[in-house]
Amino acid sequence: MNLIRDFCEADIWPEELPPPREAILEHVHGMDGLLCLLTDQIDAGIMDEAGSGLKVISNHAVGVDNVDVAAASARAIAVGNTPGILTDATADLAFALLLAAGRRVAEGERLVKSGGWKTWGPAFMLGADLAGATLGIVGFGRIGRAVARRAMGFGMRIIFSDPSQSAPEPGVAATRVDLDTLLREADFISLHTPLTDETRDLVNADTLGRMKATAVLINTSRGPVVDQQALYKALVSKRIFAAALDVTVPEPLPPDDPLLTLENCLIVPHIASASWRTRERMSLMAAENLIAGLKGERLPNCVNPEVYDHPRMNTKKT
Ligand code: DGY
Repeated sequence: MNLIRDFCEADIWPEELPPPREAILEHVHGMDGLLCLLTDQIDAGIMDEAGSGLKVISNHAVGVDNVDVAAASARAIAVGNTPGILTDATADLAFALLLAAGRRVAEGERLVKSGGWKTWGPAFMLGADLAGATLGIVGFGRIGRAVARRAMGFGMRIIFSDPSQSAPEPGVAATRVDLDTLLREADFISLHTPLTDETRDLVNADTLGRMKATAVLINTSRGPVVDQQALYKALVSKRIFAAALDVTVPEPLPPDDPLLTLENCLIVPHIASASWRTRERMSLMAAENLIAGLKGERLPNCVNPEVYDHPRMNTKKT
């Protein structure tokens, strides 16, 4: 905020809850740059309301599914994001969820706090072993690979499926397989795909039906990658063992959502990148993208570099 305020005149939404669309439309008029959160849906209408001066949209997130990037490119508006810096924090949380769901940590804590802990028993609260288990990683970009590195330390076998990544980095023992093989062989399945038309509802009744009955599903990517109704049915019927979600549809998940009634579903409130250092770095990167765009320079992290070939763009090539 200080970097931005020092550089330009800034209209900053003061509330904790996101601005409604009408408020964005009202405030965006005449702006040269926009810094938004993943809770803001930035569409062509908002870009047009800003006017032809809008040069940059800086998203305070690595995922940009909340921004109509194609509409921005068509208007020669550069879109920035925050890649790389949240890789470890997100992989850490994915692993925390993997362990917690596999070993029933949240369920156990609920039992203790509700007075339901009666005794120790040989078959009491059994969960999944990690050592020797197969971890299936769907989406093997930066975060998926960081999850793989952690899994190696737990003695897991790692397989991944990704249409664009064919090989793991040196030192990571992971094997590329097709999605069907991954679904059938994995004991744990961790999702790390961006949200696109291809990945929406990737986890659905059909793909859940191909998983092991002991499978644990972890989602730290985007809520719509999982069909939650299908997941609910799979968890209730014990079609799979457990799920742990950092992301849901909608966010926040209403307290009466059926998933919240399930002991074998662990849900946390989209906190994968919520560590002190990571959020500070994300904020700095978002501010730097915004300021570069306002200066007419290339964004340090731009998701639509094709805008620099746009005839309307008169950008210094740095
Ligand atoms: C992102 O940056 O896309 C993450 O979802 C934020 O936690």
